[in-house]
Amino acid sequence: MKPRPAPPPGFEEQRHPALLRLAHWAMALAVLTLIFSGWRIYDSSPIFPFRIPEAITLGGGIQAQLAWHNDPGVATAIAWHFAAMWLLAGAYLTFLLYGVFSGHFRRDFLPLTPRSFLADFVAALRFRLGHKLGEYNAVQKLFYWGVIGLVALMLTSGIAIWKPVQTAPLVSLFGGFQGARLVHFLGMSGLFAFLLVHVALVLLVPRTLQSMILGRARMRIHSASGAKE
Ligand code: HEM
Repeated sequence: MKPRPAPPPGFEEQRHPALLRLAHWAMALAVLTLIFSGWRIYDSSPIFPFRIPEAITLGGGIQAQLAWHNDPGVATAIAWHFAAMWLLAGAYLTFLLYGVFSGHFRRDFLPLTPRSFLADFVAALRFRLGHKLGEYNAVQKLFYWGVIGLVALMLTSGIAIWKPVQTAPLVSLFGGFQGARLVHFLGMSGLFAFLLVHVALVLLVPRTLQSMILGRARMRIHSASGAKE
């Protein structure tokens, strides 16, 4: 494992290596495609007493799709869903392997203790949680571990719904086919909530986006109080 190069004195710095960025943006694209196409698939057989408005689902205009191939866009949505599922599986595996073998998870996502989480969570509620470029706070660490777990849950519950006969033991772990559908829907809701909070936090500290796009962001540390340029 290569040590992270130290930033020049008076600066803090964040680096996101190319493989990590590639895996991250592929996961982001895949998750967005999965969510919007999943909403159209959900609408064809809702498990709750509501439907998602067609305009915010992926699958094409219902009338156009019906005229084209006598299907209200569900087949198109399933095609998007499967393509994005493979992209997510590949990117997720890349992210996991990179995270483990480069030492990134150990260095940047750990340590994480209930005490550090509580302290940072309370500070965040009081708007007193500082952000140091290149260092994740305990709330972020828990969020990232949470989303890693959620993606695993989405992939496994998705496989259970896709091939329920071949994966019968997996289906029974989810409490049956309907249980797997429920877990898949609730997992999607969790991922969607993660996305909203994640993007809001990125907007609060846009310098991190520079690093996630270009690979590096640097910031001068102004004073001992931690004020930044
Ligand atoms: C399209 C919307 C998204 C944007 C704009 C975005 C942006 C970012 C940015 C700027 C960072 C760096 C944060 C920092 O270093 O403080 C980041 C990190 C991260 N994002 Fe996203 N993200 C998006 C979607 C997602 C999705 C869908 C997932 C999960 C499937 C995800 C998972 C993560 C993870 C795990 C990290 C930590 C990366 C690491 O250091 O290993 N992001 N994201």
